[in-house]
Amino acid sequence: MNSAQDSPLSTEDAIVKVVHDAYSDKARTGADLSYTFSVAKSFGYTLEQLHSIPAESHLGLSCGNPVAAASIKDGEVVLDLGSGGGIDILLAASKVGPRGQAIGLDMSEDMIALARRNAARKNLRPPQVAFVQTLLTKPLPIASESVDCVMSNCVINLLPNAGKAALLKEVHRVLKPGGRVVLDDIIAKKPLPDALRSDLVLYIGCISGAVQLGEYKDIITDAGFSDAVFVDTHGDLNVYTQSGSPGCCPPTVASTNCCSTPAPSASKCCSPAPGKSNDSVAKLADVNEWAASYQIYAIKSGEKMVTAAADAPSPLLNWWDAYPKPKSSPPNLTCGQVAALLRDPEEVDYAVVDVRRNDHAGGHVRGSFQHAAQTFYDELANLHKTFGLKKQVIFYCNSSNGRGPRCAAWYQDFLDEHGYTQSRAYVMQGGAKAWLDKFGEAEDLVDRD
Ligand SMILES: C[S@@+](CC[C@H](N)C(=O)[O-])C[C@H]1O[C@@H](n2cnc3c(N)ncnc32)[C@H](O)[C@@H]1O
Repeated sequence: MNSAQDSPLSTEDAIVKVVHDAYSDKARTGADLSYTFSVAKSFGYTLEQLHSIPAESHLGLSCGNPVAAASIKDGEVVLDLGSGGGIDILLAASKVGPRGQAIGLDMSEDMIALARRNAARKNLRPPQVAFVQTLLTKPLPIASESVDCVMSNCVINLLPNAGKAALLKEVHRVLKPGGRVVLDDIIAKKPLPDALRSDLVLYIGCISGAVQLGEYKDIITDAGFSDAVFVDTHGDLNVYTQSGSPGCCPPTVASTNCCSTPAPSASKCCSPAPGKSNDSVAKLADVNEWAASYQIYAIKSGEKMVTAAADAPSPLLNWWDAYPKPKSSPPNLTCGQVAALLRDPEEVDYAVVDVRRNDHAGGHVRGSFQHAAQTFYDELANLHKTFGLKKQVIFYCNSSNGRGPRCAAWYQDFLDEHGYTQSRAYVMQGGAKAWLDKFGEAEDLVDRD
C-alpha cells in the first residue's frame, strides 16, 4: 500500500465494501460450532437460548445479548440492525409472537439469505419475521414511529463514523415515542495508533472502527436520545482470538483486498500482509486492553403510543423487501391477447391470477384467481400445485409496474429453480386498469364480485 488514498479503508464506500465482502464470505462459509458456542456463551447467551434456534444463525459475530436485556413483549415490533445469520431476531420472534414483528436489516445478500433459511427452519415468515437487505448508512426502509425496540449486536462499530451518526438519527426517527434502543457494541478504551486504525483485519474484526466512550455518547445525544446508559459488560474480547483473529470476524476466503498476500498463520486464508498487519495483530494480543464490550440503553422521549396491533401501520415501507429480489422478467401479454384467450372456447391451457389486495373495485378479469400479493411468495409451492400444468399463467394488478410483474417474476423464478418447464409466467400489460378501460362494458370478460 503506497498511500493513504490506496488504502482499502480510504473512503466510506470502500469501508462498507470491505466489511460487506468479509461478512458475505462468513455467511457462505459458516463457522465452527464449538467456536460459535464459546463466543455466544461468553457474551451472555444461555444454552437454552442457543438450542432454541438453528445453529447456523449464530456465527460467533456477537459481542452481547441484546434480547436478554430488551424486555421484549408480545405484540411488539422489534428491529435488529445488522442481523447477520438471524440469531437475535429468531430469539426475539418467540417473544413478539404471531401478533408482533421482528425485522432484521443487513446489507449482505448472503447474510439475508442465510437468515431467511434459518427463519424457515423455525417455520417463521413475514410479517412475524422478516429480513431485509439494506445499507445501514442509507435511510432505513422503515416507517417513522413504527418500532417499539431497536437493537443491534456488534455492528455500529463497523460503520464509517458519519454513518454511525446518521444511523442513530434514523433509529430515533423509526422508534415510537417511548420506544427503546438496546445496542451491544465495541467501544475503544484508548486511541488506536494509525497503523492499527487502518488495519483491515482489525477493522473487519470490530476493533479499529470502534469509537471511544465520549464520542459514542455525543453521537447518541446528537441523535436525540438524552440520558442514555452505557454499561461495560466486561465480556472477554480475547474469546475471538481462538479463531486466530483478534476480532469478531475471522476473514475466511480470499475475496477482500487484504487477502492478496495470504500468509499461513492468522486465519484460514485472509491473513494480514507480511510485515504490516501481522505486527499490528501481535500488538493486540490482549484485545481487552484496547477495547471493551458495552451495552447501551436509551429511550425516545414522548408519551408511549397505545395502538392495537391490528391497527398499527406496517413498519416496512415496502412489504416486498421481506422477500428475495425477483430474477426473471416474464414477458407481457396485451389485454387484447388475454381477451382472445378468454373468448376462445377451445383454449383451456392458461390461468389468470389477480394479485391485487383488497382493491377489486370495478371488477376483475372473468374467471381470474384472486390472491393477495403480500402472501404470494410464501404460497409459491401451493400456487404451482394449482397452476403448474397450465402453459400460460398470466398475472395482473392495478398497473403494469407493481404487484403483477413482481408476482409473475417470483412464479417464474420458482419454475426455473425447480426446472419446471410446462408452465410459464406472463404479465398482463396495463393491469386491471387497462382491462377495465378497454373491456369494462364487456360482460363476458369482467367479473363484478
Ligand atoms: C459482526 S456482524 C454481527 C451480526 C449479528 N448481529 C450477530 O450478532 O451475529 C455485523 C453484521 O452487520 C452487517 N453490516 C455491517 N455493516 C453494515 C452496513 N453498513 N449496512 C448494513 N449491514 C451492515 C454485516 O453484514 C454483518 O452481518
